[in-house]
Amino acid sequence: MHLLSLLALLLVSPKLVDATQVAFKSDTAPATARKAFKDAGIVPDVIPAFDPVLEVDITYQYDTNVKRAVLGTQFAKYETQNFPLWALFGVPPKLRGANFVAVIIDPDAPKPEDPKNAQFRHFLGADFTLWRGALLHNSSAALSEYVQPSPPSESKPHRYVFLVYRQSEDIPKTISSGNAKFNVTAFAEKYNLGPPLGGNFLTVSTQDD
Ligand SMILES: *[C@@H]1O[C@H](CO)[C@@H](O)[C@H](O)[C@H]1NC(C)=O
Ligand SMILES: *[C@@H]1O[C@H](CO)[C@@H](O)[C@H](O)[C@H]1NC(C)=O
Repeated sequence: MHLLSLLALLLVSPKLVDATQVAFKSDTAPATARKAFKDAGIVPDVIPAFDPVLEVDITYQYDTNVKRAVLGTQFAKYETQNFPLWALFGVPPKLRGANFVAVIIDPDAPKPEDPKNAQFRHFLGADFTLWRGALLHNSSAALSEYVQPSPPSESKPHRYVFLVYRQSEDIPKTISSGNAKFNVTAFAEKYNLGPPLGGNFLTVSTQDD
């Protein structure tokens, strides 16, 4: 976590200042996310069902540009260069001391109308814990390092889906499979993660501006 990133986030996102007073009140609240996932076809394209219990806040920073994902916000490629900041809101008390697994999935690779490489895994990391009430902070290297969204130039925008699971003791130390043709639901089943606790998504256009 870069101090500058945190500072930038605090400036644009005043709710982080009182992050310990968690409540479902923002534009990415569970009920809103649940509906948005259905409307955008993420249910069933990525996961068979989505009943979030907490809110996943995603903020990208590039240079002085700081941009939040609000369930479908469109981003330019360059805005997604750096691994984003993740924050959780409305975390139930029994989950506050938990370890989390964070995943980013593209169900539209290489093209939404022919997603033969889907799901494309853009990130998978474990050992995330809550830091300062809301920010997710990892204490180990990614199992599958962040790959920047990069839909091919002739493609329509792709969806990028951010999911947070509760970590189990079964989580592997490495992943041997490639990023393409991943199945996050099969992964979650295999390692006893249970259903996703929350999620968010954005789209990335093929134009670089
Ligand atoms: C946390 O994850 C990020 C993104 O993969 C990575 O760059 C960083 O090195 C990880 N932190 C630790 C302590 O491994
Ligand atoms: C992904 O895994 C789930 C659970 O095992 C399975 O039901 C589903 O059919 C799989 N999806 C694909 C596209 O293989």
